[in-house]
Amino acid sequence: MRLSVVGCGYLGAVHAAAMASIGHEVVGIDVDPRKIASLTRGEAPFFEPGLQDLLSEGLASGRLTFTTSIAAAAGAAVHFIGVGTPQQAGGYAADLTYVNTAVDSLLPYLAPGDVVAGKSTVPVGTTAELAPRVSATGATLVWNPEFLREGWAVQDTIDPDRLVAGVPAGLEGERAADILREVYRPAVDKRTPFIVTDYATAELVKVAANAFLATKISFINAMAEIAEVTGADVTQLADAIGHDARIGRKFLGAGIGFGGGCLPKDIRAFAARAEELGRRESVNFLREVDAINLRRRDRAVQLVVDGLGGSVFGKKVAMLGAAFKPHSDDVRDSPALDVAVQLNGLGADVVVTDPQAIENARRIHPQLTYEADRDVTIRNADAIVMVTEWDEYRRHLSPEHASSLTRGRVIVDGRNGLDADAWRAAGWKYVGMGRP
Ligand code: UGA
Repeated sequence: MRLSVVGCGYLGAVHAAAMASIGHEVVGIDVDPRKIASLTRGEAPFFEPGLQDLLSEGLASGRLTFTTSIAAAAGAAVHFIGVGTPQQAGGYAADLTYVNTAVDSLLPYLAPGDVVAGKSTVPVGTTAELAPRVSATGATLVWNPEFLREGWAVQDTIDPDRLVAGVPAGLEGERAADILREVYRPAVDKRTPFIVTDYATAELVKVAANAFLATKISFINAMAEIAEVTGADVTQLADAIGHDARIGRKFLGAGIGFGGGCLPKDIRAFAARAEELGRRESVNFLREVDAINLRRRDRAVQLVVDGLGGSVFGKKVAMLGAAFKPHSDDVRDSPALDVAVQLNGLGADVVVTDPQAIENARRIHPQLTYEADRDVTIRNADAIVMVTEWDEYRRHLSPEHASSLTRGRVIVDGRNGLDADAWRAAGWKYVGMGRP
């Protein structure tokens, strides 16, 4: 099928490349000429495992092209909208400027029977508001939310755990759902659940999923807070409750909490939307989820201060990690960087390392010192703080090796990912989060 993808950021670029890889003819469109130039050269504008290969294959096959011209969307049967919906400046609601602009710019190039499939995360009610503009061209608007995780984006796009399509009522909606089934044929043939809903449900599925994940993380971090005043160990607690299949161990990793371009802004936008709908109280807990999450960053800072005897002033603190999670170079709302910035503000000599995210981190926090090499980063450090659980730090840094480089023997494990016993046995003061 011929597809267009409007917006070539994280979501759009991966979607375009993935759709080409399953046999579609795809044009990716973005207003940013630098992004398009990079994609056209076959260079992913961000780090995402597997994307580079997919881009090269797609470009070489001729099935994947990129352009800044929205006119190139003409002739495609399905037009995906994958632009960003960031948090509004000065507020909690989502900024829908890019979605509105993308839809409006597409209108002149739509033909009767086309499907416009929104993938961006939008507040419930957005699709119904946009639909009349699309319907006026004879095309059909559907909302087809995306559940990909950064770091696993390619796999999640090609082989998702479910597909959701919010469609208008009646024959028009059924036909649009069939067209989407055709787009996702390989996944549908594998019996991937394909759930057809109305607009509001599809929009809510997306925000509800992220709200649930954020709540799960903050739940375990709340337990970490209680563990800290009782001497309990939150990781053992998570293991034990995780054996209950109804609870499950995934997303019960206590530590410095969640960040990134999705969870934080999505729960805030959800709370803001609920308030507009007169249902503030229904999701009031999300404000707590947010507050617990942010408190854990402060807690990590406190643990470093305490670990260094009450002050970090003039002490060298080596930060292992800058990205909001491993396998990503994304530093949007990164808890790791937040902790680094706070320690820097307290007068610590902070040096940050990360296998992928240094350039992005430097752009938003040029006041910090960055070092590509892990061992140079920890050399002469008074304390090490592990804040992004890359294997390079979690698995491949032995306490013995660290001892040969550092000045101090304090390690704060912001992700509860290190072997506490091994570090202690090597003479280190190991400090986990929510662990004795
Ligand atoms: C999240 C969702 O997981 C995806 O399903 C969704 O599609 C995506 O947002 C989106 O809306 O686009 P992502 O932001 O890539 O994906 O990252 P996650 O893997 O969810 O991790 C989010 C944050 O939670 C990270 O900072 C991670 O370190 C943290 N986390 C995760 C924990 O602190 N503890 C855990 O147990 C798990």
